[in-house]
Amino acid sequence: MTLWGGRFSGKLDEQAWKLNASLPFDQRLALQDVKGSLAWAKALLKAGVLSSGEHTATVNGLKSIAEAFKNGHFVFGEGDEDIHTAVERRLGELIGETAGKLHTGRSRNDQVATDFRLWMLEALPELQNAIRGLQSVLVSVAEENESVVMPGYTHLQRAQPITLAHWLMSHFWSLQRDLERLTDLTKRVSVLPLGSGALAGTTLKIDREALAADLGFASASANSLDAVSDRDFAAEYLFCAAMTGLHLSKLSEAVVLFSTAEFGFIELSDAFSTGSSLMPQKKNPDLFELARGKAGTLVGLLTGLLTTLKGLPSTYDKDLQEDKLPVFQASDTLMSILPVLGGALETMSVKADKMLAAIDGSLYATDLADYLVHKGVPFRTAHGMVGKAVKLAAEKSSALDQLSVEEYQAIGPFEADVYELFNPLASVNKHNVNGGTSQDAVKQQIQKAKSYLKGEIK
Ligand code: ARG
Repeated sequence: MTLWGGRFSGKLDEQAWKLNASLPFDQRLALQDVKGSLAWAKALLKAGVLSSGEHTATVNGLKSIAEAFKNGHFVFGEGDEDIHTAVERRLGELIGETAGKLHTGRSRNDQVATDFRLWMLEALPELQNAIRGLQSVLVSVAEENESVVMPGYTHLQRAQPITLAHWLMSHFWSLQRDLERLTDLTKRVSVLPLGSGALAGTTLKIDREALAADLGFASASANSLDAVSDRDFAAEYLFCAAMTGLHLSKLSEAVVLFSTAEFGFIELSDAFSTGSSLMPQKKNPDLFELARGKAGTLVGLLTGLLTTLKGLPSTYDKDLQEDKLPVFQASDTLMSILPVLGGALETMSVKADKMLAAIDGSLYATDLADYLVHKGVPFRTAHGMVGKAVKLAAEKSSALDQLSVEEYQAIGPFEADVYELFNPLASVNKHNVNGGTSQDAVKQQIQKAKSYLKGEIK
């Protein structure tokens, strides 16, 4: 049974039917569809379309359908084109002709937009919790490694000493922005389309604000034409997902690099690395590579939907059926990556000695310039003087901390205390500005992060 057979005398071609049907993916909206229908039945009762007996029958029927979905007993029929058809067909089997009143004043256009938004209102906090899970791991691993020093990189070249904690926390804050974006998006998802009908609204006396409140929406949409076509929320969701994907990719790229023999900064646990079918010695960071790779897929999902939306005229067009697959895929992708990355970071071993060994004398060049600045040398001049010291060390195949006092003094106003600079933690702790890499500053950063995680700051 289709919901639209009346004006047709022939059957839809079999392959056309398959192309048209959305049940394979929109059955994921089953419980939201029933929820929306329950609220709509209440609105129909208030509008005088359903008698109280009919309303009770409808509610009981819908509730038993919801039960069947929950325990996996719901049987789809061959003619179920989409989830809305399936629910209505089953309701008819359960309560008879009264089921036919449920769709009064409603179209699948406002119905599907409502279902999808209801789904997203549930999915958003779940995604946020998964992000918070990874953030908590970053914080706890950072706390364990507050005094572990490593080279910080720019251009992937060793730059200045930092702490591992500071590096880990840098990934906390990008995820924090992702959380904020999702919270902000929630406002725009929480707008009810139901009551917009196919496009023009409904002739029934429906209190749409009450309906919105019933379904947990913050408000009802202001324009029925806009309401049935608005998929901004889906595109925004995909942007948020892609952005999180990029953040996870950045983290993953570093983990892949740091776990190579060339870096050797970390070793992943057996539970979170894989082997090679050919090379017995290999221990591969596949899961991080997948996270990095899936970021590309997430960007593609966003691009795909934006391209689908581009050029659509006003109100509902069947193109919009293409909105659900990318959003579901993006959600599943992130929900599968986030806990795995958390587990892997939590169980990796940190090779503090390797990190320390990678801090060679050249990483103190900026500290040497700052030393001269404190002696009154203008920074630009100090930069030039230290550059000369770097050049001299390179010519001698030596290092900055190996040059003699005499050599330093020939270059600028250095004194014997210059060697005190070549200490990683001392260097780190001099960067004691808010947000800097000093141990104190990182402690404060971690405290702030914990307050975010506890919900004390929003
Ligand atoms: N399966 C459709 C979708 O996901 C439901 C809306 C169908 N509306 C219509 N006028 N054919 O978009």
